[in-house]
Amino acid sequence: MFKTIEWKNNCVRLIDQIRLPEKEVYVDCRNYEEVAQAIEKMIVRGAPAIGVTAAFGVALGAIKSKANNIESFKAEFDKICTRLSLTRPTAVNLFWAIKRMEEVFNRNKNKSIDDLKKLLLKEAKEIYKEDIQINKSIGMFGKRLINDGDIVLTHCNAGALATAGFGTALGVIRASVRDGKKLTVFAGETRPFLQGARLTTWELLKDRIPVTLICDNMVGYFMKKGEISKVIVGADRIALNGDVANKIGTYNIAVLAKEHNIPFYVAAPISTIDPRIKNGSSIPIEERKPSEVTTIRGNSIAPKEVKAKNPAFDITSNHYITGIITEKGILRKPFSLSIKRILKKSHYER
Ligand code: MRU
Repeated sequence: MFKTIEWKNNCVRLIDQIRLPEKEVYVDCRNYEEVAQAIEKMIVRGAPAIGVTAAFGVALGAIKSKANNIESFKAEFDKICTRLSLTRPTAVNLFWAIKRMEEVFNRNKNKSIDDLKKLLLKEAKEIYKEDIQINKSIGMFGKRLINDGDIVLTHCNAGALATAGFGTALGVIRASVRDGKKLTVFAGETRPFLQGARLTTWELLKDRIPVTLICDNMVGYFMKKGEISKVIVGADRIALNGDVANKIGTYNIAVLAKEHNIPFYVAAPISTIDPRIKNGSSIPIEERKPSEVTTIRGNSIAPKEVKAKNPAFDITSNHYITGIITEKGILRKPFSLSIKRILKKSHYER
């Protein structure tokens, strides 16, 4: 099995998701700036994977620091955290992971610089391990929703490539298949970055899970024909009322699913819920380069002078969502209540 993220020889090793599926190659980030650029360029992408990578980036930056007193070490540490938090704005897991690293620093600021470095790396490794466990739990809860013979539509890539391993939406699929359920996945291609076409199909084929690629604009056609029985997607940020930010195009699918009475599920760790955000309208949406829209894999597909827009995410309002599958169970409507309850429970447990 490939490793999406790995701490190796004092480097953060990432599978290069820009080069998939043609080439399975790995990139070694030797300092925190290289980690930040890998997140910006989407060598690593997907909300939980970005969080885990950023945590390793913070640890890497701290370990490489030459500061010899705690004040300058702290100043450098703050600079590292700020740089990494400016890489991508939508996935809250990034800020959540950096905050965990900051808390470790603050709790231990009386320790030696060497001890602090060790504790920071330990925390990043912890975040990595936890993420895999969390995804397996999401799979355990989510598989109850899947029936033998289901055709499950997913969007973007919420798989092992988007996490430390196993995946969220694809974690539900993996857990169901491991239980012996026969199902097919429909992967939407996910223009413009093609995470569905390039990444979801790649990782499912590797696991021998039946997958069929469709263009994003074919979803309504297959729903109307009764060929999609469920939708499961991931999330980049969930508001307290259950509104969900996820890859651009998710909203279209949710509206179509409601029209055709098809259950629409979101699979995400509790760390994707942002306790400071009341509803989806305050979630920042990343706007990426127009050239991602006007070209495909470096080839121009539109007149050079044309204007293009490229919002990377959209918001799906809570009323389109049947349930949110988390590592602690499946949240149901009204989401403002179920989310409040789960946050309270998780807070007490930590
Ligand atoms: O722009 P990306 O590829 O980072 O966007 C990824 C998504 O939108 C995923 O669906 C989401 O992060 C969940 S991944 C488990």
